[in-house]
Amino acid sequence: MLSISNLSKTYANGVHALKGVELTIGTGLFGLLGPNGAGKSTLMRTLATLQEPDTGEIVFDGLDVIRDPERHRRHLGYLPQDFGVYPGVSAYDLLEHIAVLKGMSDKKTRREQVEALLEQTNLTSHRKKAVSSFSGGMRQRFGIAQALLGDPKLIIVDEPTAGLDPEERNRFHNLLSEVSENIVVILSTHIVEDVRQLCPRMAILAEGRVLRAGAPRTLIAELEGRVWRKTADKSAVGAYRRSLQVISTQLYEGRTLVHVLHDGQPEQGFEVVEPNLEDVYFSILRTNATAAETGHAA
Ligand SMILES: Nc1ncnc2c1ncn2[C@@H]1O[C@H](COP(=O)(O)OP(=O)(O)O)[C@@H](O)[C@H]1O
Ligand SMILES: [Mg+2]
Repeated sequence: MLSISNLSKTYANGVHALKGVELTIGTGLFGLLGPNGAGKSTLMRTLATLQEPDTGEIVFDGLDVIRDPERHRRHLGYLPQDFGVYPGVSAYDLLEHIAVLKGMSDKKTRREQVEALLEQTNLTSHRKKAVSSFSGGMRQRFGIAQALLGDPKLIIVDEPTAGLDPEERNRFHNLLSEVSENIVVILSTHIVEDVRQLCPRMAILAEGRVLRAGAPRTLIAELEGRVWRKTADKSAVGAYRRSLQVISTQLYEGRTLVHVLHDGQPEQGFEVVEPNLEDVYFSILRTNATAAETGHAA
């Protein structure tokens, strides 16, 4: 169990990246969903003890992470957003090298684990190839293999699916859900679909704040009967934006599909729809942005 309380961070340039983040995260896959600039990577790097917060506390399985980062790192696996690799080094050799850095001193244990992880991530037949020559999907699977070295109890993966094609993403999703069975896995993403497919628990982060946390199905149920849809001409969309709480607009066969949050039918022509996780995400972001514009903190 990971508990994060009152975590804040202001960078030297004045950017207030985390503003009192509070989260409790148990075993399984946890989705941290938020737009670019929300503070996801800042939070992930802080949890990985690569940087310190200004205030706040992180406790993992009873251990004070900020006070004792070295002990924390022993059971931590981390896949950074910009996972760089040495050019020319083979998958096998690089895993072996990282295993040594992680303190796995017994040669036999190390070899067995490297081979098992290559197998688990479907990279055995590519083990002699340079990781720098891998496709995006293979590289991210390698990233999971290196994160799993040393049997970590907490794995942090920062935007791992950005840039993967649908098939690679699917494969990567399967791998993540397999490894998250008995440990805590935190996945950050700006892609709603990642969270919908993988995560029984989630939080929405924007502008350094946790806006909501919970089970996706609970958050979706809260919108039941309140999401209305209309197919409109593009010219009408501006007026809807001014008069109604528009959650999202999406082009569909050249016309615009408008989703609106409203108690009761907003006006003729709107039909109620089953809410989905995108409705949850965009309505929460929108409410937060509106609150910011009118000067009320969300
Ligand atoms: N090292 C840094 N120095 C200064 N500002 C930073 C640094 N890293 C991130 N930021 C700023 O902090 C905010 C949050 O960034 P980040 O944590 O990368 O968000 P996300 O990963 O959700 O896109 C952004 O405004 C970003 O420009
Ligand atoms: Mg990021």
